Amino acid sequence: MTDVLDLDAVTIRRGTTTILDQVTWSVREGERWVVLGRNGAGKTTLLQVASGRMHPTSGTADLLGSRLGRVDVFELRPRIGLSSTALTERIPASEAVRDVVLTAAYGVTGRWREAYEESDESRAADLLAAFGVSHLAERTFGTLSEGERKRVQIARALMSDPELLLLDEPAAGLDLGGREELVAALAELAADRRSPVLVLVTHHVEEIPPGFTHLLLLRDGQVHAAGPLEEVLTPENLSGAFGLDLVVDRAGSRWTARAAG
Ligand SMILES: Nc1ncnc2c1ncn2[C@@H]1O[C@H](COP(=O)(O)OP(=O)(O)OP(=O)(O)O)[C@@H](O)[C@H]1O
Ligand SMILES: [Mg+2]
Repeated sequence: MTDVLDLDAVTIRRGTTTILDQVTWSVREGERWVVLGRNGAGKTTLLQVASGRMHPTSGTADLLGSRLGRVDVFELRPRIGLSSTALTERIPASEAVRDVVLTAAYGVTGRWREAYEESDESRAADLLAAFGVSHLAERTFGTLSEGERKRVQIARALMSDPELLLLDEPAAGLDLGGREELVAALAELAADRRSPVLVLVTHHVEEIPPGFTHLLLLRDGQVHAAGPLEEVLTPENLSGAFGLDLVVDRAGSRWTARAAG
């Protein structure tokens, strides 16, 4: 079985800065990954590579069985959903929420004059319902709260029925209730066998949804530790990745971390 993602010694250099340093990472069918690391560790850059938006300076990246650099990325991109703040900023504030989701069927932002299939319309409606934002369908995107935007963006990223879904800090800026609702929605997504392979970048172990299976810890552009969540999420590994002495606790299927002492 081919890997969904297979990065081999991926290095990204910009000028004299090495942003990703020899990252080797494989993601397989059915897995749900969390990526943790402090500010500037290279998480967003890693998702840029994993979504086919950035090519390695050296090393190789195979996405859905195709080698980046040898494949038409415009054919690849609809098969990989990405939700990030940078992409949210590109959604026109005046666009109706239902169109924000619908247009993703064609991998564009801003509604042109494409003819949409009825099946697309009903899929968009189903996704808005799944993320609890059906009532906002006719509102313009610019009028939504931060939490509402995050949910619409995830619905949008799922619209093209991707094989891989990459989420860059989806809970950033949410209040406690909003975060918990999002964690629950992601847990539901993780539990559904029809869901794409998931990769979730976050800053907080509290935001790891139940059902996520693997963890990648990045430090200074390098893989600090990677593997099954329960094996990798230890105080030693987390302390090492963050350069801080940390205590990690588990309550049921949720995690917490705080400074030791
Ligand atoms: N074009 C660039 N030129 C030079 N340095 C860059 C460039 N793009 C990113 N960087 C640097 O690479 C590092 C990694 O950036 P990245 O956005 O991937 O980090 P991150 O882990 O997502 O951080 P955060 O948690 O703050 O979102 C940062 O130090 C950033 O300043
Ligand atoms: Mg980032």
